[in-house]
Amino acid sequence: MTKYSILWLFYGLLALLLAACGGSSTPTPLNPQQIETGKAVYDANCAACHGAQGAGEPNWKAPDANGVYPAPPHDSSGHTWHHADALLLQVMREGSGMPNSKMPVYRDILSDGEMEAVLAYIKTFWGPEEAAFQQQMTEQWKEQNR
Ligand code: HEC
Repeated sequence: MTKYSILWLFYGLLALLLAACGGSSTPTPLNPQQIETGKAVYDANCAACHGAQGAGEPNWKAPDANGVYPAPPHDSSGHTWHHADALLLQVMREGSGMPNSKMPVYRDILSDGEMEAVLAYIKTFWGPEEAAFQQQMTEQWKEQNR
């Protein structure tokens, strides 16, 4: 088992634990204007790797011969929804920090507004449970980083 998969396993367990303790936080309604912008930015910049509907690349948990991981899904089958807004925006801005990562750094390519819009669009790939869970993660992050 690689260091990387242990990390994802940890995130998975954390997500399950938090889901089990989770309350019934209602996701904030998404802004339609922002979603339209987000879809345009996503289709142009992210869809080639993460899939037009956020399905990711096939076999995304298995690195290739050079240790490069395929792009994970952003829909409910992935783990994007396990993470707070702040963390997801940080990955977009600065890259994932994973070894051999092919996830681009968008700091000099997209504006903060465009990255926020993409995030809003990615949220349309989730079901109500994933959306509620992710909202809770976002609120917890804010609590801890006040
Ligand atoms: C060249 C392929 C590629 C493109 C283009 C790309 N990504 Fe990624 N992305 C990846 C890979 C691969 C990962 C998995 C982590 C790693 O290997 O760095 C990833 C991870 C992520 C994550 C972290 C997911 C998680 O669950 O932790 C987010 C968020 C993300 N990408 C958003 C985006 C957005 C938004 C765009 C477009 C603006 C984008 N990516 C474009 C390949 C790509």
